[in-house]
Amino acid sequence: MIIPRRVCQIRPRRVILSGIQPTGIPHLGNYLGALSNWVKLQKSAEPEDKLLFSIVGWHALTLPQDPAALLTARNDMLAVLLAIGIDPNRSILFHQDHLRRMTTWKSRLAAARNSASEDEVDESLLNAGLFMYPVLQAADVLVYKATHVPVGDDQQQHIELTRDLADIFNRTFKGTSPLFPLPNYVNTPSKRILSLKDPTSKMSKSSPDVQSRILLTDTATQIQSKIRAAVTDSIQGITYDPKDRPGTSNLLTILAACTDSDVTQVAKTYESQGHGDLETRSAYLDETARRGAARAIEHSEETMGLAPPIRGDMSDSGKPPVH
Ligand code: TYM
Repeated sequence: MIIPRRVCQIRPRRVILSGIQPTGIPHLGNYLGALSNWVKLQKSAEPEDKLLFSIVGWHALTLPQDPAALLTARNDMLAVLLAIGIDPNRSILFHQDHLRRMTTWKSRLAAARNSASEDEVDESLLNAGLFMYPVLQAADVLVYKATHVPVGDDQQQHIELTRDLADIFNRTFKGTSPLFPLPNYVNTPSKRILSLKDPTSKMSKSSPDVQSRILLTDTATQIQSKIRAAVTDSIQGITYDPKDRPGTSNLLTILAACTDSDVTQVAKTYESQGHGDLETRSAYLDETARRGAARAIEHSEETMGLAPPIRGDMSDSGKPPVH
């Protein structure tokens, strides 16, 4: 007897949510650690699963920002997410700071400030206490009752805090069933890509050394020269040893992730070769990836053309809404 798929399905509906700060063009660490997983999860999701991906402008305001640059970066980030394959028809792709347009949010804020009407709300009163970083992130996740959060290694602690908060809430306010599912941290095998210049720290958008990261918009030549100049070590041959050979192991991790292979297998292929071979091969793969991204951009531009104009929630003067 053939059992209809719906009847035998036992996996509960998933709500997949993640976010990225619009603080510059995403780098390879962002891509291999998180964004590539967003696209994979979008492809493998069942029709009833919900996916939400947020450009988290408020999180960016925890560091000083140039308002005009931030405004541009928000739209650039949207274009990059479309280019890598996030489909706005399948996934809910949104700016975190657009939520403040909602009347409910404004009226709640007005109530909190004991203000008579929505128009009297002074947004400059929104402060760090209200938007404290990890709490804000927990709110991002919990407000959608997310069950799965695809992020890199550096965000794991935030997800653990989110689980704790959900658990405390559920136990404090006992209803017939717990309000919040405990969200699961979903990672990739390359959950922590290291800086090309200092392999003791993670590849980061905020590092002052632009040679330390590969941007998703870099040209093949730029990628090649960054990989060639990456800090490795003077030990002969190639081995995967993250503790004692972090730079070499980082290049192997990147190569394995770009070729969808197991890192120890990749290391075996290169064991009798020098760093030069590894760096040339990585550059070739990065060029292939870059060409793929350029093709994706053509499609995303079509989608961007079909999408209604994006009205940034920043004021026309380019001032961000919250300080
Ligand atoms: P953000 O913008 O710093 O980074 C975006 C994603 O990239 C991952 N990542 C890395 N993965 C591997 N190696 C690296 N070197 C590397 N650098 C960054 C991050 O883990 C992240 O997944 N707080 C978050 C944004 C956020 C969020 C959320 C995420 C806000 N609300 C709710 C999930 C759910 C952040 O600053 O990511």
